Amino acid sequence: MEKRKIEIEYELAQFDDFCSIGKQLIEEARRATERSYAPYSHFCVGAAIRLDNGEIVTGANQENAAYPSGTCAERSACFYAGAQYPGVKFDAIAIAARGTDGQFTPEPVAPCGACRQSLLEYEKLAGRSVKVILVGRDYCYVFPSVASLLPLCFADF
Ligand code: THU
Repeated sequence: MEKRKIEIEYELAQFDDFCSIGKQLIEEARRATERSYAPYSHFCVGAAIRLDNGEIVTGANQENAAYPSGTCAERSACFYAGAQYPGVKFDAIAIAARGTDGQFTPEPVAPCGACRQSLLEYEKLAGRSVKVILVGRDYCYVFPSVASLLPLCFADF
């Protein structure tokens, strides 16, 4: 057997490292956490997607008493974008979260597997990379694409 390794490259960035457009996207993701409905987990996630038509659409996690019926911030944002602007390309997504103490998480929060898969579909359909900015309290992680967060992805459709 041959041993193989998958490596993922990403950047560590401070808020001031971003241009004004990036800063705006981060602020929108942070603001979107205020629209989270999370009475069960008390973990408030916000996502902001910059579309190539210049619009920013946001989403926040929406929970439900029947737990699996709820949805994550990233999927609420990307499905909303797809429903409002069919076929539009995504430039970037920023994701921020506030923990049970109500404060922004010190560490950047990473999207769950289902959200990665959902975002990947829009990236593949558009045929171009969507930058992913994971926002922590003091620093961010920046990934060049959704695919980079989902190695060996299922995307044969
Ligand atoms: N959540 C998100 O909104 N995005 C993620 O990528 C991970 C988890 C939400 C789902 C649930 O409402 C809460 O965070 C706790 O898991």
